[in-house]
This record gives sequence, structure tokens and C-alpha cells, in this order.
Amino acid sequence: MPDERLAMREMLKDKIRKTVDISQTAQSRGEPMPPLQKEIPADSKLIDLPDWKMNVGELQVPLSELITHRKSVRKYAAKPVTLHDLSYLLWATQGVRKKQDSDTVWRNVPSAGNRHALETYIAVRDVTGLEPGIYLYRPLEHALVFVHKPDDYQEQLSKSVYRQLFVSKAPLVFIWAAIPWRMEWRYSEASVKVIALDAGHVCQNLYLAAQSLGLGVCGVAAYDQELIDQFIQVDGKDEFVVYLGSVGHAAP
Ligand SMILES: Cc1cc2nc3c(=O)[nH]c(=O)nc-3n(C[C@H](O)[C@H](O)[C@H](O)COP(=O)(O)O)c2cc1C
Repeated sequence: MPDERLAMREMLKDKIRKTVDISQTAQSRGEPMPPLQKEIPADSKLIDLPDWKMNVGELQVPLSELITHRKSVRKYAAKPVTLHDLSYLLWATQGVRKKQDSDTVWRNVPSAGNRHALETYIAVRDVTGLEPGIYLYRPLEHALVFVHKPDDYQEQLSKSVYRQLFVSKAPLVFIWAAIPWRMEWRYSEASVKVIALDAGHVCQNLYLAAQSLGLGVCGVAAYDQELIDQFIQVDGKDEFVVYLGSVGHAAP
């Protein structure tokens, strides 16, 4: 077994926690808590999302059925996803469950230490009521912010995922980026593994929530780091992509 592979395996263990001096973490030293969501210019225009509860009462699919039939879907019908459905998926994956005060909120997914180091970008190709482009989800306001419109959406996205064409053809793609500092402030070097674990919870909610709406998802972890970071315009150092999930109506 090459030493390098053995070293990488250590990332899956929790040995690192024993090496972190908890009295010296940024939180213990009294550094200010990182903001709950990414800081964006104060004059950013929020795009309100429709009430996610609208029509959801009609769904009522038993969870056991959703779990039984869950599968990765890579062939999408040429049919747009509605803004209401996107609103529901964002709520299910990163929405706020409970707000105590400006520093303390709980979301609909678990997160190590409730730190929630993930940001959700949506690459939109075919969503009713949204111009194609890249958007950032604002969990606290349940709203979107337009980030930019890539010059050649399908070509850039396809290149960013090693030509997995179903991703660039999907009506929309969830792209999760980590801002590690939000986790490191409390857990220092012991943050890497738990950020990855958090992403798994988020995508599983996407799979099940999408299925309840009759949509299909495929989780995607094979991507070109630099290209996908450029695609959503994050710096690749303090914020970078960790996972994607393509979404659309399954082709018949
Ligand atoms: C962490 C993770 C990464 C994945 N990355 C890819 C990917 O890059 N491309 C792809 O086509 N499928 C990807 N998948 C989907 C898996 O291939 C799929 O879950 C697996 O084949 C089992 O099929 P099922 O989801 O239908 O049960 C990924 C799934 C997970 C959980």
C-alpha cells in the first residue's frame, strides 16, 4: 500500500481531534464568529422565492416509498423546473428551521457543531421565471442573488465536470461550496472531514425532496476543481466547490 494512500485514509479517521488544542481555536481565543452565510455587497438585489409550502401539502408521499424508489437520475426530459419546486428544494437542503437570534439559527439539515460551512449555488439552465445563469441561495432570507451569466454555460459546465454531459444538460444544478473558516473557527484542523459529512446530508435531502416532487437527482463528485470554482466565481481558497447535484424531470 503506497504511503500516500495510507496518509489519505487518515482523513477519514478522527485522530486529528486529539491533536487540536481546543483552548487555542479561534472561538476559544474570542475571535468573532464568522457570519452565518456568505457576506455579499449590501446593495445585492434579493430575488424572492415563492412560498415553498404552496402545493406541498398535496404531495404526501410516504418516506418509506421515497427511500424505496430513490435512485440517481441522469437522463432529463426537456421540461423546465418551476421556481416553486426550486424553492422547495432549497428549503429542504439548506432552509432555516428555527431562528433564536441573529447569531443562532438551525437549518433543515444537521451540521457538525451547527456551523453550516456550505453555500448553495444554483446553475440555472431551464427554470421558469429565472434567467439562465449562476445564483446564490440566501438561507436566512429564503431568497436568491444573481451571481453572473457564464459566456457559454453548457460548454463551461460540461468541461468543469469532465464532460459528464447529463450535468450540463440538466435544467438546474446544485453546486455546494465550502467556506471552511465557518467550521475551522470552532474545530480548527478537525474541520475537513465534518464539512464533507455535512455535504452528504444536504445532497440526501435533495434526492428525497426532489423525488417527492417527481424530479430526479444525481450527486456528482467528479469535477475539475479550478474550472468549477471559476464557473461559479469563487476564489478556490477561502471558498471552493465540494459537491454537485444535477436536477430535472426524469426522461420517460
Ligand atoms: C459522493 C457521490 C459522488 C458521486 N459522483 C458521481 C459522479 O461524479 N458522476 C455520476 O454519474 N454519478 C455520481 N454519483 C452517483 C453514484 O454513481 C450513484 O449513487 C451510484 O451508482 C448508486 O446508484 P443510485 O444512486 O441509483 O443508488 C455519486 C454519488 C455520490 C454519493
